[in-house]
Amino acid sequence: MSVIILGIESSCDDTSAAVIKDGVLMSNVIASQKVHEAYGGVVPELASRAHQQNIVPVVSEAIRQAGIEKGDISAIAFTRGPGLLGSLLVGTSFAKGLALALDVPLLDVNHLHGHVLSHFIKESPDGEVPEFPYLCLLISGGNSQIIRVDSPYKMEVLGQTIDDAAGEAFDKCAKVMGLPYPGGPYIDRLAAEGDPKRFRFSKPHIAGLDYSFSGLKTSFLYTLRDAKVENPNFIEENKADLAASLQKTIIDILMDKFSKAVKITGIKTIAIGGGVSANSGVRDAVQHYADCHHLKAFIPKRLFTTDNAAMVAVAGYFKYLNKDFCDISLPPFARVTV
Ligand code: KG4
Repeated sequence: MSVIILGIESSCDDTSAAVIKDGVLMSNVIASQKVHEAYGGVVPELASRAHQQNIVPVVSEAIRQAGIEKGDISAIAFTRGPGLLGSLLVGTSFAKGLALALDVPLLDVNHLHGHVLSHFIKESPDGEVPEFPYLCLLISGGNSQIIRVDSPYKMEVLGQTIDDAAGEAFDKCAKVMGLPYPGGPYIDRLAAEGDPKRFRFSKPHIAGLDYSFSGLKTSFLYTLRDAKVENPNFIEENKADLAASLQKTIIDILMDKFSKAVKITGIKTIAIGGGVSANSGVRDAVQHYADCHHLKAFIPKRLFTTDNAAMVAVAGYFKYLNKDFCDISLPPFARVTV
């Protein structure tokens, strides 16, 4: 009999549901919330309300697109955390209610494990997946971590940011440039037209494999503030070069520690995940590094870099195979690392 997992993701501002059948993706529906754009960041209460409106149509559509009936579902996987508590409560409560109604088991998924295991989303039965162990650079709006993945059930954080995440560095610097939220994709697009060597911003000197991005943010802010005193149109006239130089600095910081982790561990398979792994420069840098060092690199499709239920369903599928079900009384959690 087939194993069919329904995945539900509601940790931040995307309501998503996906179905996988025997490990192969059948549907992945995502409703993004536009309501936050006017506020320059995600407003938690508005996110919860939008999830509440979206969850029934999104789950119904995922089931319809997968060509299955509700009664075919073997288990329901849901993001238990980390994320915004009100948003998580919507997905968690919905998953529990549906599991009770269908009399199927529940699988709680750590959102970060979902990103790390997103490379196991197979769009066809012969889709290529990484071999264990692999090193994953998890970079998003809330996290920057280097994770050693020994199996779907065994992961170890080798290094992580001690202050801002890579995505925050993109978004906060973009805000200083007057770009909309989230600024990462705007910097990415502008950077393609600019000179990455034009400006120099400070890089951190942190021991070991940990990251820091707050110094870069401050140095970017001061450069712009001082230049604007001389020329009020400085940002407008130099935005492509500013974006390209900022992006290059973030990539240098990321690759410096990631390459160190590869050397220390001797692991030959590398991967990236999380929203910032959609960045063109980051993707090119990781692939280039892998090519030069004879490593195998797994770069996710852009669709699977941001929050999606396909990765939740995949992480849940591994738990299903391990019979690692969760109790219906389990509450969501807002904060945790891998
Ligand atoms: O994983 P994700 O969707 O969720 C959170 O952690 O909230 O990541 C969102 C982050 C944001 O900081 C956004 O600016 C960044 O991913 N991002 C990018 C790009 N696309 C999304 N950063 C740089 N370049 C991109 N193309």
